[in-house]
Amino acid sequence: MDSIIFDKLEELASAITVLSPERIGVEIGCGSGHFTVQVALNKRDFLIIGCDLKKDRLEKTLKKVKNNELNNVLLYRGKGEELISFFPDESISELYVNFPDPWPKRRHMKRRFFNKSIVELIYNKLKHQGILYFVTDHEQYFFDVIEVFKESRFVPVFENYFTINLDGYYSTLYMEKFKKEGKNIYFSFMKKI
Ligand SMILES: C[S@@+](CC[C@H](N)C(=O)[O-])C[C@H]1O[C@@H](n2cnc3c(N)ncnc32)[C@H](O)[C@@H]1O
Repeated sequence: MDSIIFDKLEELASAITVLSPERIGVEIGCGSGHFTVQVALNKRDFLIIGCDLKKDRLEKTLKKVKNNELNNVLLYRGKGEELISFFPDESISELYVNFPDPWPKRRHMKRRFFNKSIVELIYNKLKHQGILYFVTDHEQYFFDVIEVFKESRFVPVFENYFTINLDGYYSTLYMEKFKKEGKNIYFSFMKKI
């Protein structure tokens, strides 16, 4: 395969078919791939599909994938919402959204990744027992999303829907930055049962 960065969903689909993975993990907003590579290294039976809007960030991810000689990663440049829609129902095992842009201003909130319909869409695309992972430093965005989760068919992995400063989760570039600043990191994992 010449490149693992795809702009077209049909071409990505062909590449997935060739690899015919047992399990698929999708990372929305993978940025420069810190998390992507760690998940791929630790979950060798997964095909990890990293998605971001920005080509330069995906190229950094690609470099890390090559340096680690990983053959279980594909990358998609485009909107996460479109990538998720493209999958058949019940086909994704895990979906990760780490530090999505918080869009804190009221007039920009419409741009946030999480809303009722994307949560419903993710629910449909996940396999039975599949998990949606959501991590952020942004308290207001986090608790807004928790309200959406509460209205969904998902079941929370943590009591009260969330935990703070969880150890053992793969780190991301933004996580490193916010931890250094002494900020709390909020985690919510939601399961389809
Ligand atoms: C705040 S950064 C976090 C990057 C990485 N997850 C981390 O934690 O270091 C958000 C990333 O999401 C990407 N992004 C924003 N909206 C997106 C969308 N609708 N679909 C896919 N990626 C998106 C941005 O380009 C950016 O790389």
